[in-house]
Amino acid sequence: MMVDEITILDFGSQYAQLIARRIREVHVYCELQPWDAPAELVLGPNTRGFILSGGPASVYAQGAPQVPEYVIESGLPILGICYGMQALTNALGGAVAPTGEREYGPAELHTVARNPIVGQGRYKVWMSHGDRVERPPGGFGVLASTDNSPMAFIGDTERRYYGVQFHPEVNHTPQGGQFIKQFVQDVCGAKANWTPDSIILESVKKIQDQVRDGRVLAAVSGGVDSSVAVALVHKAVGDQLVSIFVDNGLLRAGEVRQVISAFQEHMGMELVPVDASERFLSHLKSVVDPEEKRRVIGEAFVRIFEEQALTLGQPPFLVQGTIYPDVVESQAADRSKVDRIKTHHNVGGLPADMRFELVEPLRYLFKDEVRAVGEALGLPKGLVWRQPFPGPGLAVRCLGEINTERLSTLRAADKILNQELEESGLLVLTSGEGGMQGTSQAFAVLLPVQSVGVMGDKRTYQEVVAIRAVTTEDFMTADWARLPHDLLARIANRIVNEVQGVNRVVFDITSKPPATIEWE
Ligand code: XMP
Repeated sequence: MMVDEITILDFGSQYAQLIARRIREVHVYCELQPWDAPAELVLGPNTRGFILSGGPASVYAQGAPQVPEYVIESGLPILGICYGMQALTNALGGAVAPTGEREYGPAELHTVARNPIVGQGRYKVWMSHGDRVERPPGGFGVLASTDNSPMAFIGDTERRYYGVQFHPEVNHTPQGGQFIKQFVQDVCGAKANWTPDSIILESVKKIQDQVRDGRVLAAVSGGVDSSVAVALVHKAVGDQLVSIFVDNGLLRAGEVRQVISAFQEHMGMELVPVDASERFLSHLKSVVDPEEKRRVIGEAFVRIFEEQALTLGQPPFLVQGTIYPDVVESQAADRSKVDRIKTHHNVGGLPADMRFELVEPLRYLFKDEVRAVGEALGLPKGLVWRQPFPGPGLAVRCLGEINTERLSTLRAADKILNQELEESGLLVLTSGEGGMQGTSQAFAVLLPVQSVGVMGDKRTYQEVVAIRAVTTEDFMTADWARLPHDLLARIANRIVNEVQGVNRVVFDITSKPPATIEWE
């Protein structure tokens, strides 16, 4: 990277990604690396400082992770957080000791001495640690304390080394983002040049260097990641890119047209439509088991993709919308591998003889950065901010047998739900006076259950639509959205009146866990 860079060495913290996000939020580029990654992978000409993350170990325990020598030798500023502070203390000749008990929860930090990170005052901070620093290394002074932790913040301003016992990266430390900002921008002097424009500039150059005059294939799903990835590659190599859009018959109302015209109008880009709906539906005929549905869909995709690639003369490059959290998670799951930055590998599910070199322009971006880049590239807001939609599409929301008729019932119900949410301004999640408002994800589910109803004077025996609407930050956990009763009533009324074959609407009021977001 040509931009200034901060390196976060991960000592096994559950918050490591949060540290990275706080830094990126202030437009400074950073990368997360395992604490024992080789120096040549970590230290570059643009490295401006290090942050050492927290971690579960005890510094004196056998085999406990230590601060690598090259970090100290670099002479660059260092901020140690929790375990990172203890490891730094240990590396520089101070002493760490167990407190005998874990301190966990809120505390009040008060500044003791002037420093460039925490201004004069009192701040709410979040503690979560067992050990603590007993004797700081030579040259260090106490900069701020809490009642329980006299050395909650220590530092050596001369050498630009700092350590915090609390966690500045979590939301429970409201001023924490500011502390991190002061460290990276003021202490390290890292320039705030990680902006959508600079990301685009840099990505375009990188893609051009990688692809040269080769041809590139992409499959667009209409999801945010694949759309932004493709738009970036198109900006870089223009017509060398061929993008296909597979209509698997499991998309929502109007979706195929929306995606194709969005690319055409906003990016001047042609998507090659591949209408495979009949093929998918015939494979899915009489399949009711959710795992089997997924398998059948996955396989059909691979076959179609294979055929398209052959028709196009097997382009050597393939675009993937991998984003940074996927990269970090697979790194963590595969710590033993040092060749983390692989570019030649096969794509899950594709036959072994179809080898592509991957073009992954979003590999270093968080989701919010992907969206900002998408907007800067001129993609329509509706596409950039849309809610997630699973790869297997409506198949996971059409429980029981999948056929054309049931899919259109589901599409019609889902469209009404979306319209009503949009009109109420609840199709996006916003923070309002009473907390979070709106939905992170909302959709209709068609259940293979018939129940009795009455319409006019007639008895009906029809299917049930469930409304699922959730609020969540990361989709790992979720709460059901507290939609206004009037709105729910309107949605139910409209669905029962306007959608053939449905005489009952229910609202899902389970959180995740124990339920999942999709019903499958
Ligand atoms: P669950 O149902 O596991 O869903 O709580 C969490 C999030 O993941 C989405 N999801 C998928 N996304 N392919 C995807 O691209 C899939 O197969 C898939 N299954 C679930 C789901 O919509 C939710 O946002």
